[in-house]
Amino acid sequence: EKIPVKIFTTPKEGSKYAAREIAHLIRSKADQGLPCVLGLATGSTPISLYAELVRMHKEEGLSFKNVITFNLDEYYPIEPETLQSYHAFMHRNLFSKVDVDPANIHIPDGRVAKDKIKEYCQKYEQKIEAVGGIDLQILGIGNNGHIGFNEPGSSRYSKTRLVTLDNSTRVANAREFQNISQVPRMAITAGIQTIMGAKRILLMAWGLKAGIVQKAVEGDVTEHIPASILQQHNDCTFVIDELAATEL
Ligand code: GLP
Repeated sequence: EKIPVKIFTTPKEGSKYAAREIAHLIRSKADQGLPCVLGLATGSTPISLYAELVRMHKEEGLSFKNVITFNLDEYYPIEPETLQSYHAFMHRNLFSKVDVDPANIHIPDGRVAKDKIKEYCQKYEQKIEAVGGIDLQILGIGNNGHIGFNEPGSSRYSKTRLVTLDNSTRVANAREFQNISQVPRMAITAGIQTIMGAKRILLMAWGLKAGIVQKAVEGDVTEHIPASILQQHNDCTFVIDELAATEL
């Protein structure tokens, strides 16, 4: 089963499309007096999406007062104050610029003691369940097909857990750090089952990702390409630019 794909001329146009869908969901939930539960991603891909949401907050009165967020992942170990942490990323790009209630923000904590991580991850899952699950999950895609930090080989049934990063992921993410030795070797990530539990999924991809996008959308469903498992979700759309669409 192929994944529906929407192709835009530029990342900016694709981001605007995703932002409009998110804003519509936030507002329709607010009109019903309900919270809107968003699953959020990091990496370079969603930066333009968050910029557009901030613009809509400032210029179009889009409020995040009813929004509850769960981020996909965080490096491990890492301090939230570290520039490269996903905590710092989210505050820089979105949370510090909108009216979201800090009590409604959830990001895996890269400081949890090793012997407490299992319990911590179970609680993270329970918090998602307690608010009725994720209404809309934003995803990027790694060059190896990872979603969140679910590297190739991750189980379809995986939940939030501590994982070891692939060397290729550490190399790709080294650009955010001084050098590769500074890149953490592990991460806490929501699992593939956690992601598949979202009611709606938008995966975004820009630029030089045509090969992996083709495999995810049209290839066999395989745990070797974690994003291909999204073919089994009933409401997932890929939002991509023309460059990322060149092998479809
Ligand atoms: C990172 C993140 C993923 C992200 C992916 C792609 O390591 N953990 O959530 O989707 O790799 O990153 P980018 O958007 O910078 O290409």
